[in-house]
Amino acid sequence: MPALAVDPQSLCTTLPSPRPRLAWSDGLALGLQAMDHTHQEFVDLLAQVASADDEAVPAAWNALVEHTQGHFDQEDRWMRDTGFASGNCHATQHRVVLTVMREGAASGQVAMIRQMADELAVWFPTHAQTMDAALALHLRGVGYDPASGEVRLPQGLPAAEITGCGSASCG
Ligand SMILES: [Fe+2]
Ligand SMILES: [Fe+2]
Repeated sequence: MPALAVDPQSLCTTLPSPRPRLAWSDGLALGLQAMDHTHQEFVDLLAQVASADDEAVPAAWNALVEHTQGHFDQEDRWMRDTGFASGNCHATQHRVVLTVMREGAASGQVAMIRQMADELAVWFPTHAQTMDAALALHLRGVGYDPASGEVRLPQGLPAAEITGCGSASCG
C-alpha cells in the first residue's frame, strides 16, 4: 500500500463492526435545500461504492470523488460569500478529506477504497451535523441565497472574518 499524504485513519477514530452503512434520513437534513440535495447525492454515491463489485469500485469511487469536489467547492464558496476566512477550519477539513479521497482514487486499490468508504460513512454524519449544520444556520442568519449568492441580511455578516466553523468540533 503506498504511503498516503494524509492518514485516512485521521478521518475518524475506531470503526464500528460490522462495516458501517450510511443511508439518507431526516436526521441528516439541515433545512437548506441546496445543501440537503447535495448531501443526499453524496450519501447515494457512497452507497453505490459500498455495494459495488470489486471491479466496479474504482469507477464508483471516482464518481464520488468528483461529486465531492463540487460539494466542497460549493460550501467553500458559500463561506467566502458570507464572511469566512479562506483558511477556516471547515474548508480545511474539506481539503484534507478530498486529498485522502484522491489518494484512494490514484491508488486504484479496492481494499483501500473500501476502507475509505467505511470511514466516510462514519465521518459524514458528524461533519454534516456539526460544521455543515453551523454553516446552514449562518447562511440562514444572513439571508443567503445559494442560487444567486445574494446576502439579503448583510447586517448579519460578521465584523471580522470567521476562522473557526461555529461548531464544537473545531476551535
Ligand atoms: Fe457538506
Ligand atoms: Fe462541509
